[in-house]
Amino acid sequence: MGDPDPYGEDLQLALHLAYDLHYRAQPGVDPDLEWDPEVLRFRGLLERVFLAALRADCPGGDDVDAVLAPLLREPVHGSGPSFHLAAAGEWWQLREYVAHRSIYHLKEADPQAWVVPRLEGRAKAAFVTVQHDEYGAGRAERMHARLFADLMREVDLDPAYGSYVDHVPAVSLAPVNLMSMTGLHRSLLGTAVGQFVMIEVTSSPGSRRLSAACERLTGGPAGERFYDEHVEADAVHEQLLRAGLIDLLDREPGLAADVVLGVQAGALLEERFGAHLLTAWAAGQSSMRVPV
Ligand SMILES: [Fe+2]
Ligand SMILES: [Fe+2]
Repeated sequence: MGDPDPYGEDLQLALHLAYDLHYRAQPGVDPDLEWDPEVLRFRGLLERVFLAALRADCPGGDDVDAVLAPLLREPVHGSGPSFHLAAAGEWWQLREYVAHRSIYHLKEADPQAWVVPRLEGRAKAAFVTVQHDEYGAGRAERMHARLFADLMREVDLDPAYGSYVDHVPAVSLAPVNLMSMTGLHRSLLGTAVGQFVMIEVTSSPGSRRLSAACERLTGGPAGERFYDEHVEADAVHEQLLRAGLIDLLDREPGLAADVVLGVQAGALLEERFGAHLLTAWAAGQSSMRVPV
């Protein structure tokens, strides 16, 4: 296999395609490839490269409270894409941001659903309660993936699943590949939970900024609806998941280091994604691999 870049285009796209066999039917692809030994063997090689890089690039440790504490403080002068989009973003930049995020949001909460059978007790109850919300709490038109598809239409993007896989760079695929990898491996349960907690803890303030960006730039209701939903829901999800996390670690204290890795690796991949977008936009260039 040579010596592939763990964060590079080839490895991340190959991982994405291997994982996608577990999510949706792909046109012209035999569904039985999902459990093809050769595909799984190759995917395993890629996963080992990706996971080794994440372990090497994260500080590690096993103090879950310490790794979550800085995430709970909202920076006054933050610098991620949501800060830029809220303050000075342009319509085409918001549109690119939505295309990047479509890789996850069109299957929002699906990667975390793999985790449910592996949990017990309060952790399981908390996870399922969060998932119930993500899937619209009984109303298909309120599913977060559906609300996001409405936003895509609003910024003149194609809301069909997978429309922008060929457009986004590896930095956009990597955070979602981490979700799929940790979701599909019971041995990475703690890491899956850590990344999910990291996302929910940081989502609410970021969503407030993105709602403001949509209000300023799109003139339509769908963007604000999607992000406003997350301002409120994710403040609750954060509390539920942190309570679930305490329960999980009471039962399985040995998972603490994996949870820390999930928080750190999730944050690292988000930082890389944000830095890529802001660097491209600062140079007046598209952040897409293939412009939309
Ligand atoms: Fe959501
Ligand atoms: Fe959420």
